[in-house]
Order: sequence, then C-alpha cells, then structure tokens
Amino acid sequence: MHKIIVLIGAPGAGKGTQARLLEERRGIPQISTGDMFREMKSSNTPLALEIQRIMKEGGLVPDDLTYKMVKERTEKEDCKGTYVLDGFPRNVIQADMLEELAKEQNKKVKAFLIDVDSDILEKRLTGRRTCKVCGEIFNIYFKPPTKCDRPECDLEKNLVQREDDNLESVRKRLITYEESTKPLIEYYEKSGRLVKINGDREVEQIYSEISRSIDDNS
Ligand code: AP5
Repeated sequence: MHKIIVLIGAPGAGKGTQARLLEERRGIPQISTGDMFREMKSSNTPLALEIQRIMKEGGLVPDDLTYKMVKERTEKEDCKGTYVLDGFPRNVIQADMLEELAKEQNKKVKAFLIDVDSDILEKRLTGRRTCKVCGEIFNIYFKPPTKCDRPECDLEKNLVQREDDNLESVRKRLITYEESTKPLIEYYEKSGRLVKINGDREVEQIYSEISRSIDDNS
C-alpha cells in the first residue's frame, strides 16, 4: 500500500530539508503547504494578502482552505504513489481531515517526528537563507552558503531570507507549534503510527533513518 508520509516538527526542525532530499533522491513528491502559501503571495488578491498577514504573525491559515489546497494538489498524477507532506497536518482538525483523504486515496499514513531541542531552533530559523532559483536551503551558522552545484545559481544574487524568519515571527511560530501542532505527537503515537527521529544530528544521518523507515512495513 502506498503511504502518506507526514513530517512533524517545530519550525526549523528540518522538515523541508529532509522532504527535499526525499524528492531529489527518491522521487517522492514533497508537498509543502508553507511553500504553496508563499507562492500564492505574488498574486496580490485579498486572500493572498490575508495569508501573508497570518504567516507574518506566525499563526495558522484556516483549516478548510489549507485542506482544500492539499487535497487538490495530492490528486495530481505525481501523487498516485507515496508522497511526503511537509507542514500538514498542523493541528488535530487537519489530522482528522487527512484521515478522510487517506481513506479516499487508499493510502496509509505514517508520521515522523523530527525532534530538536528548542534552544537551537531560533538560530536555525534566523540563520536560514534559501536560494530563490533552486530552493536549496542554507544556514549562516550550520550550513554556510557556499557555491551551489547548479550552474544557474548565483548565490550572491539569489540568496533570500524568509519574511517570517525574523526573531519576532519566529517566537510566535514556536508558540503556535507548542499549542496547536504538538498534540499531533500523541495523536499518531496512540495509533502506533509515529516514528521519533532525533533531529539534532547531521542531515545525512537523519535522512538515512527516515528513508529506511519509510520502506519498512510498520
Ligand atoms: P512552513 O513553511 O511549513 O514553516 P515551518 O513549519 O515554520 O517550518 P520551517 O520551514 O520554518 O522549518 P523546517 O522544519 O522546514 O526547517 P528547514 O528544513 O528549512 O510554514 C510557514 C507558515 O505557513 C506557517 O507559519 C503558517 O502560517 C502557514 N502554514 C503552513 N502550513 C500550514 C498548515 N498546514 N495549516 C495552516 N497554516 C500553515 O531547516 C531550518 C534551518 O535549519 C535551515 O537553515 C537548515 O539549513 C537548517 N538545518 C536543517 N536540518 C539541520 C540539521 N540536521 N543540522 C543543522 N542545521 C539544520
């Protein structure tokens, strides 16, 4: 049976980094709700402006809208097999919605908690820089932006910092995680579908563990 891989973790835990590797190396599509909302921003509609405001304040975009977007995206051809959800579900209501979707799509949900000590998260987020051309994620403290392998990337010109990676937004996002998203740990643990991963290690070690565990039959 194909799987829906759910990556749970605080902001900065490394969900995007790992989902990106799974897509690059194994062709498992990365469905990132945060990326989809950021893409909507350029459209300047009232809805896009409202989403921008919510993201800047570190809150959550309404559940119905988020679910509709995930459902539409995962009905596309590339998601016929296993896919990775990076940033969804974000609360218990969304997790219940995902149960319905998994039933409809005849897939099994498997969740990974990428667990990182809260005191390093601020540095991971305020230090994050992303290449706007290829999406590669760097960090001025932990993974300094050196030359990118892709010839089209000129990192001096293309490196950007996310609008919600300033200290004020980061602190609000961490509170939202504690209040809304953390209960998902118990949600998936109770039903025996949670794998806990120590996220305070090298990216490659974390990747190997997740990648191996995706393939086992639990
Ligand atoms: P989203 O884009 O999902 O942001 P987030 O959850 O806050 O997570 P991040 O992307 O900040 O962190 P990450 O865990 O992916 O870490 P990364 O790999 O980049 O959501 C943004 C906003 O959109 C939300 O606040 C909300 O408003 C809205 N939204 C999204 N989904 C929603 C939903 N379902 N419902 C409602 N609203 C929603 O790594 C971070 C840094 O650490 C990088 O610099 C990286 O290089 C570094 N790093 C990564 N791994 C390691 C490692 N092992 N060691 C050292 N450094 C590392």
